[in-house]
Amino acid sequence: MDGSVQMSGNKTLFEFPTSRIGSAPRRLKQIWAVGGGKGGVGKSLLSSSLALALSRSGHKTLAIDLDLGGANLHTTLGVELPRQTLNDFFAERVNHLSSCITSTSFPNLEIISGAQDTVTIANLNDEKKLRFLDSVRDLDVDYIIFDLGAGTSGHTLDFFLFSDVNIVTMLPEPTSIENGYRFLKSAYFRRLLVNKKLAPIHDLIELATDSKNVQGVRSPADLFKLVSRQKPEMAAQLKAEIERFRPKLVMNQVRTHADIEIGSSVKTVCKKYFGIDIDYLGYLDYDSTVWQAIRRKRPVLLEFPQSKLVGNVNRLIDQLLRSHGEQKSSLL
Ligand SMILES: Nc1ncnc2c1ncn2[C@@H]1O[C@H](COP(=O)(O)OP(=O)(O)OP(=O)(O)O)[C@@H](O)[C@H]1O
Ligand SMILES: [Mg+2]
Repeated sequence: MDGSVQMSGNKTLFEFPTSRIGSAPRRLKQIWAVGGGKGGVGKSLLSSSLALALSRSGHKTLAIDLDLGGANLHTTLGVELPRQTLNDFFAERVNHLSSCITSTSFPNLEIISGAQDTVTIANLNDEKKLRFLDSVRDLDVDYIIFDLGAGTSGHTLDFFLFSDVNIVTMLPEPTSIENGYRFLKSAYFRRLLVNKKLAPIHDLIELATDSKNVQGVRSPADLFKLVSRQKPEMAAQLKAEIERFRPKLVMNQVRTHADIEIGSSVKTVCKKYFGIDIDYLGYLDYDSTVWQAIRRKRPVLLEFPQSKLVGNVNRLIDQLLRSHGEQKSSLL
């Protein structure tokens, strides 16, 4: 992204540092975020599985639980709730984000557990969020995985947009798909809204973010049409910015071939009706080993190495690493 984040609550744009003149090069290769419109669509399962698979392939990996209020990534990874969590960072009880890192029993895998204290979460403002985002890229790891909360709150969208790889999970069910579309559209609009190059059409983008606007702007495609009419000189720039963002879709809990195909339909609908491009990255099968592993507080990939999920996750990781210039080494 372009390095700007919008402060929610007001419309002030601000910058976080994208260059670090005179400092050591960062180790971090990428941040991958897993989000989605709805609760219970497998964001934590996918985040923890990606993190575990990356760590098993030799990458030092950190999973961060950004599900504010509903933090449970540690359980998915079979880790007891650590003593220090994001609560302590947001409440300024620790100076450095690195103090909240907890090691796990898995080589190369660390975790920052989520904020659970409602007072801390209610007080999470843009300054604190910026401090977090500013610190996170300095952590001494190869990959960071953000496990996001459900919904389209400003904080959640900003964590999603700040990442290098933006993954959205959906279930092959109408309600989940509907919420997934809403999440994608909200992310697009928020991304456009904070883009300084688009400042001349800020008012039109803001109008689009009001889902009940009377102009009928419901999608980036509608916004493009409106801008083409009202500010044609900005249309090409808007198009370029819309095209620059390519979220990746993972269908979860698929049971049939038709379920897998729903992912392709979602991609087609996104292009045809919303004017946005997404990549259909792949899918996770529905597998009853998931709840069995959760009950045992163990990662499913390790507890049930014959589970179909192992192959599913390996394929996703392979795709992601390949599209970012890395070949698969030995996975699970
Ligand atoms: N592929 C799957 N096969 C079987 N069960 C699954 C699968 N994915 C998720 N589940 C079940 O769905 C539940 C919700 O998954 P998960 O906690 O990963 O979703 P989430 O999107 O992180 O939810 P929340 O928004 O509440 O954080 C899990 O407890 C698990 O039982
Ligand atoms: Mg979750």
